[in-house]
Amino acid sequence: MLEIRELTRVYGHFTALDHLSMSIGDGELHGFVGPNGAGKTTTMRILATLLAPTSGTAVIDGVDVTENPRRVRELVGYMPDFFGVYDHLKSWEYLDFYARCYGFGQSERARMTSQLLDLVNLSDKKDAYVDSLSRGMKQRLCLAHALIHDPKLLILDEPASGMDPRARAEMKGILKSLKDMGKTVLISSHILPELSEMCDSLTIIDHGKLVFSGAVDALARHMQGQAAIHLRLLPGEDGDPTPAAAALLKQYPGVTAIERGDDSCTLLVGYEGDEDGMADLLQALLRAGVRVSGFHRPPMNLEKVFMEVTRSDS
Ligand SMILES: Nc1ncnc2c1ncn2[C@@H]1O[C@H](COP(=O)(O)OP(=O)(O)OP(=O)(O)O)[C@@H](O)[C@H]1O
Ligand SMILES: [Mg+2]
Repeated sequence: MLEIRELTRVYGHFTALDHLSMSIGDGELHGFVGPNGAGKTTTMRILATLLAPTSGTAVIDGVDVTENPRRVRELVGYMPDFFGVYDHLKSWEYLDFYARCYGFGQSERARMTSQLLDLVNLSDKKDAYVDSLSRGMKQRLCLAHALIHDPKLLILDEPASGMDPRARAEMKGILKSLKDMGKTVLISSHILPELSEMCDSLTIIDHGKLVFSGAVDALARHMQGQAAIHLRLLPGEDGDPTPAAAALLKQYPGVTAIERGDDSCTLLVGYEGDEDGMADLLQALLRAGVRVSGFHRPPMNLEKVFMEVTRSDS
């Protein structure tokens, strides 16, 4: 459904998006994660044809966003991070107004408006003025607006920001309905655990660059495969056991870093490998006569993963 290749956007001398490549399959719910200023909105505005890329391509359902923006607009429903709504309209009038802009007839508009309000759980606010709606309700009304022309791809820029836990849960339900309707969804957020719960796949960017793109469980495996092993040793006959162990570990393939832990008998071993490799590593230590009293790799939670993958060097 979406293929982005080497997408780059430069503002003056500043590169906001730096050769980003990613793809999303049909019917996927894809999370787009990154800290403030990572380039999420820039990417989404390019996909919605509101911003031209400096270089690179983005193709939606076979249509290039710069070559055929008019056709892309038919394929895409975009919900921006900040939106203006016409306050003097009632909820149903607001949707009716946009449906009229798309050229739908009166009976069709009445049916659509009622279906869309139902989908975003605003049926009971049908006759409420837009300015009387809460922020979360306005966001849901904007989502309904983005759906009017029945787009294949929905681009939602932080639809759950500022929502309370209940509204967030409701939003998850709405996204599930969209998926069941066969829509493909790209949804951005700063909150990795929240997105990983509801998405099939994720892209993480930082400073305009790709950090990770793939299935949610692949991210967990990818990160877990890089977590440090906590190694605890017993002192040998010649006292401090760590120099000998560190010397042996340094030679071992996959070992990326060795640091001292909280006390003199603990080492934190950066190791890129799976559990088979860990078992071999432990065996090598034991064979060399190192007395190991603790050996484990603590599981990474997703919040930690986010901090880890978006760790800034600048
Ligand atoms: N019109 C512009 N002119 C100059 N710089 C811009 C412009 N729009 C965005 N930027 C810069 O590009 C970078 C990416 O911004 P963008 O809005 O895409 O980030 P974001 O990931 O959506 O962040 P947030 O999580 O805060 O919404 C930021 O450093 C921002 O200051
Ligand atoms: Mg943004």
